[in-house]
Amino acid sequence: MAYHDLSDADTAVARREAASSSTTVLVSRRESFNAAHQLRDPDLSDDENQRLFGKCAHLHGHNYVLEVAVAGEIDPATGYVLDLKRLSDVICRLIIQDVDHRNLNTDVAWLEGLIPTAENLAMAFWERVRPELPEGLLRSVRLWETDKNWAEVSDRV
Ligand code: NI
Repeated sequence: MAYHDLSDADTAVARREAASSSTTVLVSRRESFNAAHQLRDPDLSDDENQRLFGKCAHLHGHNYVLEVAVAGEIDPATGYVLDLKRLSDVICRLIIQDVDHRNLNTDVAWLEGLIPTAENLAMAFWERVRPELPEGLLRSVRLWETDKNWAEVSDRV
């Protein structure tokens, strides 16, 4: 191999190392669950709840989709920002197994006292997974309530 070829190869390696040590990469895992809820403030009357939340004040269900994204540098040892199997395990252990096929108003201790809007659920899910992930890695938690509606909690607006 000619000298200039070695030099080019070294430059390419150096570029890759520089890129992998300073560029943030976003990766995401999607999980789904089915659950029932009603948008209801227990401190209000049925009429007031009906006025505030309309038909959502009645018990109904959704096929929720939860997307959790992490952002960070690629670990040169594995090529991962975070092993998505590990992210899946965290999501399933801390959230999905508690909420799947449940009534979110009554069946989940850590949702007690919350009106289970997509916004409140996304915030509760964010607070549950964040301590379980490496410091600073969690980027966003997006909860799809229908294929038209989602709410997202993010470390960036
Ligand atoms: Ni709903």
